[in-house]
Amino acid sequence: QDKKLWGGRFAEATDGLVELFNASVGFDQRLAEQDIRGSLAHVAMLGAQGILTAEEVEQITGGLNDVLADIRAGNFEWRLDREDVHMNVEAALRDRIGPVAGKLHTARSRNDQVAVDFRLFTKEAALDLAEKTRALRAVMLAEAEKHVQTEVILPGYTHLQVAQPILLAHWFMAYVAMLERDEGRFRDAAARMDESPLGSSALAGTPWPLDRHATAKALGFARPTANSLDGVGSRDFALEFLSACAILAAHLSRLSEELILYSTFEFGFLTLPDSHTTGSSIMPQKKNPDVSELARGKAGRVFGNLMGLLTVVKGTPLAYNKDLQEDKEGVFDSYDTLSIVLRLYAEMLPKTVWHAETTKAAAARGYSTATDVADFLARGGVPFREAHEVVGGLVGLASRSNRQLWELTDAELRAAHPLLSAEVAGSLTVEESVRSRQSFGGTAPERVREAIEAAKASLSRQ
Ligand code: ARG
Repeated sequence: QDKKLWGGRFAEATDGLVELFNASVGFDQRLAEQDIRGSLAHVAMLGAQGILTAEEVEQITGGLNDVLADIRAGNFEWRLDREDVHMNVEAALRDRIGPVAGKLHTARSRNDQVAVDFRLFTKEAALDLAEKTRALRAVMLAEAEKHVQTEVILPGYTHLQVAQPILLAHWFMAYVAMLERDEGRFRDAAARMDESPLGSSALAGTPWPLDRHATAKALGFARPTANSLDGVGSRDFALEFLSACAILAAHLSRLSEELILYSTFEFGFLTLPDSHTTGSSIMPQKKNPDVSELARGKAGRVFGNLMGLLTVVKGTPLAYNKDLQEDKEGVFDSYDTLSIVLRLYAEMLPKTVWHAETTKAAAARGYSTATDVADFLARGGVPFREAHEVVGGLVGLASRSNRQLWELTDAELRAAHPLLSAEVAGSLTVEESVRSRQSFGGTAPERVREAIEAAKASLSRQ
């Protein structure tokens, strides 16, 4: 055990359990690259400002690069007694180059150090998830394009009861729209967090003549943060990232739920690929949708990560408090979780087989064209509310006798309303229903083809 980097005023050694409780190196070592990048930018700036000599800068820079090479090669001993990534790196630097290492921390605090490391990480994570979300969007768009060609029909649901027939391609395009916004949320968050807190120092700024614009630029940030208390004390950049993650996870969870339902024997709409399903150790017939169930389940922890950090932050007075050390694991976890789910779905969806006969038959059941019958009457001049009442009566009649609308007799239909007949009921097919929904954003094949073209243009633009 070496002397603590902050040990000056302490007469007694740190309690062992406190050391264990206090240390973050177990997880924040993941920030090592960012930490060293931050230090390299800081030391170069200290040199340019005449705060360190050229020789000191050279020694420290060389040492940091060696430490980085050791870490990358896996030749680095992470020590719990050195508490966190920052002090592990700095102590290792001192082990290598001696006391001059101590000059690195001039005009800097671990508070702005951790804030800059974590912003670098979170910004990269947000941009990476934006790319992965975009890749899944491209896959779902390609699926929509594939299924619009044959105009595969799917039941559209409300309350999980058959509502109106839609195109399967239209269903895919709904997720394409959600994923486009999800990507946008990550990019917006990345743009808003694009500020460097380095040079805020502990909380109040520093008397040293720093060039914060230079370090911000060197680290690829758009600008330095404007307020030193905010720079070290705020974590809304992480909250925003976690909330974009939570919303994306909610979308992926809804998708998962649909895939799970539609793959059941009872629905039979689709078959998931063997490569992305698992078996049961006791029931030989089983083919379980584990990927989708885990994606749905993991949404719970991704939501929890957001709620967890909101709760950590809410009671902390400005500026830094050690509570904020709790900001990292949730961000790492949400990032890792969504990275894998997005990749899995991008692989799995193109290998999923849809059963067009079954989906079309299901779309026809459950009186899914009842609205079309009402619209037919309304087009004949019947007020829509009255038409609704008439068709409601017919649905009641059909369901009591366990028939579909097109199985009602000509006499029954004419009795319900003189404009109706067996011929009319027979012409209201699911294809016709889908074809008729021409409103902008609707499920008619032309509209869906236009939506696909627009989505392709938007995908190639950004
Ligand atoms: N490990 C700490 C964290 O993750 C680094 C900052 C520590 N600063 C302090 N004043 N104790 O938040």
